[in-house]
Amino acid sequence: MTSKKNDCKRSYRSCDVLIIGGGSAGLRAAIEAHDAGSQVLIVSKSRRGDPHTVLARGGINAALGTMDPQDNWMIHAADTLREGLFIGDYDKVEMLCKSAPDALTELVNWGARFHREPDGRLTQRFFGAHTYRRTCFYGDWTGKEIIRVLMKQVRLRKIKFVDSVYITKLLKSTDIDKTQVEKEKNEREEEILGAMGIDLKKKNIIIFKAKCVILATGGYTRVYPVSSSRIFENYGDGVALAYEAGVDLVDMEMVQFHPTGMVWPKKAVGTLATEAIRGEGGFLLNSKGERFMKNYYPQRMELGPRDVVARSIYNEIMSGRGTKHGGVWLDVTHLPKSKIMERLPTMYDQFKRIAGVDISKEKMEVAPTAHYSMGGVKVDLKCHTKIKGLFAVGEVAGQVHGANRLGGNSLLETVVFGKIAGRAAATKVTREKKRTTNGRSSKSSILGITYNEEKRLAYTLFAVKQPLRILRQVQQVMQENAGIIREAIKLRKAIKKILELEKTFYSKHSVLKSFRDYENVINTWEVKSALVVCEAVLRSALMRQESRGAHYRSDFPERDDSKWEENIHCTRRGKEMVMFKLPVSKIREPIEELLKAEMKVEHHLLE
Ligand code: FUM
Repeated sequence: MTSKKNDCKRSYRSCDVLIIGGGSAGLRAAIEAHDAGSQVLIVSKSRRGDPHTVLARGGINAALGTMDPQDNWMIHAADTLREGLFIGDYDKVEMLCKSAPDALTELVNWGARFHREPDGRLTQRFFGAHTYRRTCFYGDWTGKEIIRVLMKQVRLRKIKFVDSVYITKLLKSTDIDKTQVEKEKNEREEEILGAMGIDLKKKNIIIFKAKCVILATGGYTRVYPVSSSRIFENYGDGVALAYEAGVDLVDMEMVQFHPTGMVWPKKAVGTLATEAIRGEGGFLLNSKGERFMKNYYPQRMELGPRDVVARSIYNEIMSGRGTKHGGVWLDVTHLPKSKIMERLPTMYDQFKRIAGVDISKEKMEVAPTAHYSMGGVKVDLKCHTKIKGLFAVGEVAGQVHGANRLGGNSLLETVVFGKIAGRAAATKVTREKKRTTNGRSSKSSILGITYNEEKRLAYTLFAVKQPLRILRQVQQVMQENAGIIREAIKLRKAIKKILELEKTFYSKHSVLKSFRDYENVINTWEVKSALVVCEAVLRSALMRQESRGAHYRSDFPERDDSKWEENIHCTRRGKEMVMFKLPVSKIREPIEELLKAEMKVEHHLLE
């Protein structure tokens, strides 16, 4: 698998806190770690200022109560837990919703231009499954605005940022040449030392030495062919890096399909048609012109939970009531054009530019698109993984959103937990520096990697012939067998197919003897990551024998709390992926009471 000819040029960087990912989670973590006294370096695969976050459209949540004064963090938390079908981690949800108003205020103080009412209050709009209006927004390009503001703060602090770098491996204490005895001892006390990657601009290998590493690399929805991510993002790079380093993954079966992505032209398939369209009053219609959500979720119609709306659309299409391009209609032609231009300007432009559709006069054609990974790296409340000094934050991490994410909670998660991760990493660095100056050396202060070790690490890089051909097959397998509706027979078939593709990928016919084309190495690595992720998604989906949130099993169509109020974990034992489950954390007061009262009302209504 390795090539003796790959003795490429190498360069080195060192810092206290290395942040992998230049999206809102990474930037917010960087700002906090810097302010807490650490020397920070951000590396990102995408161009500086153009991470996946810029595609986040409709908004960011906080129970500010500017439009609906009855709202508060507890109702926000109850909505989040309910939407996640009660497998989200209670402590994380509480932290998310309690911290939201401060996180929003901070962004406003940094200059975020969220929409305001004529009297100056921040405007909040409805998003699906929220009890009250609590989504703040900047037109329909809120993510871009948040990146603008965070990048400004990064620049003001002169935080170092290297883009076009793709990380291929996390370096730990156990990666460094040691005697077997030392290695075994270290395994119990594993510690992060940095990371290795490819610098695409300089065309060399780059080795980062760091006391802490924060993964902020995004999710894994690009393992599906129809996705709201761009083609160069979200292959699960960070998830695979962590798993290969020995960190557990959790809830990997939980992939959110956003109800509305574009269905044509071909180059735009999957591109998001924001939930804000429905939040502002858009209707969903089938080919017969019926507002079909009345048959599935009359209580909230188009603003029902995302999983329910996505499955309803899927069902309409599969039942022959879809449009010519295999979607349904999304209609805002009844709204005043001025409102469309003020609240949905990007959508107006996107449909006009890409499809030649004037959404103020014509209906949009849409269908579900893979949008968000609720599953990911297992972390504690401070975003720490089980490897000392390794943190994960944002979409790469699991357990905040449970089985389904509320729209508007992902941008929120990035800033709330970004801040927490940055602070936790910097605190660890400070503690370590103190220990070192007190004379007790810590392992990560001797970050000496010998020339031979570097060489050995460089040899682990490889490229395969035509990685994109394998990728297309991987995506096809996922689309056909692990999409909106799943069943055991198909999931088993898909696991077999993915393992076969993995064999092909690593075979001697596929691996090139040497490489010059660094782009090809990156494509190879994306497929390598996708293979790990797909196996984890499929094994977890097969294990969960019930339907819950985004995970719908036609062979187990009911939710089964007696067996499955649990989180499914994947762990690495040698080359094997081993599965286990653990009970979810218990919901506590005051949210417990709130949810109980709600259930009583529901029960009463059913009687
Ligand atoms: O539809 C949207 O604008 C997506 C928002 C989200 O996923 O939070």
